[in-house]
Amino acid sequence: MSSTVDFEIRERSRELPGRIARFPFPFPRDTYRYSTNVEPAGSVVDTAAGRWGAHPVDIDGYYVEDLAERERVLGEDPTRFQALPHMEIAQWDAMITLMRMLVDADPRTFSLDRKGGIRRFTNRALDVEQAFVFGERSTLPEPPLRFIGRHIQEDVVLLDQRDGALWGDAGLVTFAADWSLRFDVGMSFLQIHGPVPRVHTEGVIPRAQKFLMGLQAGQRYRRTNWSLTVDRRLDQSTETYPQWGRDRRLLAEGPLEDVGRRLNLRVEVQHLVRLGASGALMFLIRTYLLPFEDIARVPEWSDRLYRVLDELPEDMADYKGVTRTREPGLRWLLTYGGVQP
Ligand code: HEM
Repeated sequence: MSSTVDFEIRERSRELPGRIARFPFPFPRDTYRYSTNVEPAGSVVDTAAGRWGAHPVDIDGYYVEDLAERERVLGEDPTRFQALPHMEIAQWDAMITLMRMLVDADPRTFSLDRKGGIRRFTNRALDVEQAFVFGERSTLPEPPLRFIGRHIQEDVVLLDQRDGALWGDAGLVTFAADWSLRFDVGMSFLQIHGPVPRVHTEGVIPRAQKFLMGLQAGQRYRRTNWSLTVDRRLDQSTETYPQWGRDRRLLAEGPLEDVGRRLNLRVEVQHLVRLGASGALMFLIRTYLLPFEDIARVPEWSDRLYRVLDELPEDMADYKGVTRTREPGLRWLLTYGGVQP
């Protein structure tokens, strides 16, 4: 990037609210296709509005709100947490790893101390302090993965590696985009991806599995995925489809002016981390939502989003559940978003 452009972006990111400046805009080009799009985690990504990507767990302005929403969802449906019995060590491993990641990301808010066998985790944002002994179930109020899930905005799936495959054997997922952890738990990586079009004939999923199985302890990679969501609704699990499915139709039938405020680009930043003690693979899914009217404040983004949505093949649009919403989204971007066709 030239230094003039760099300077302009820095100036712009200072003026924009954090939700825009830190948004992981996912499109490097005007067309979108599935691929095994993984890259090493940890490097900061510059966008046309700011930057993202420093940490695998990200604490932002929605922290308290998102975690309250997670409590609500878990309270209404405890099956959003799943763990097969053989995933006990993996749960502890994931919990400690996530605690360390929180401390790295924000040492003023989180700490993890150790005196002999007793560890103490502190979260000053939620006013929680918990002492525990690693591996001792009786020292925690609930299973380790569910405990740490109340402190991170990310969803988590833990995959066991055995018999030459990966198995989604535990997880805490309250913000799924049109899938269900309860349905998927215990399935293989290939079975989980069964409903996704194109990826099987193109070999994307077997290639991804081979890559993931080769990850060594401590290695971290990341990728992004995206779709569209009506309103700031993080929970789009299959279980609650009746609550959110009709909003797509209602948005399409409603006034065009409302689309900029209500339709969101939904982006998942996914981290893939090989855990050391258990050898399990930890899959973190962080969901960001940004309304079209905020996207339109960054002309490069609105232009690119328009082109990606316009070109997206029907089968992919169908699978992503954007068939009804992309048309009003495109019209809004042309009418109010400053985009030229
Ligand atoms: C969906 C690829 C890792 C769980 C998808 C989709 C793609 C994909 C292309 C379709 C997304 C869309 O159009 O919105 C990959 C690649 C991976 C990866 C390339 C790794 C390099 C994982 C892992 C899990 C996972 C580790 C953990 C269980 C899912 C689920 C869905 C999905 C649950 C939704 C499937 C459904 O419709 O029921 N993945 N994925 N993915 N992926 Fe992955």
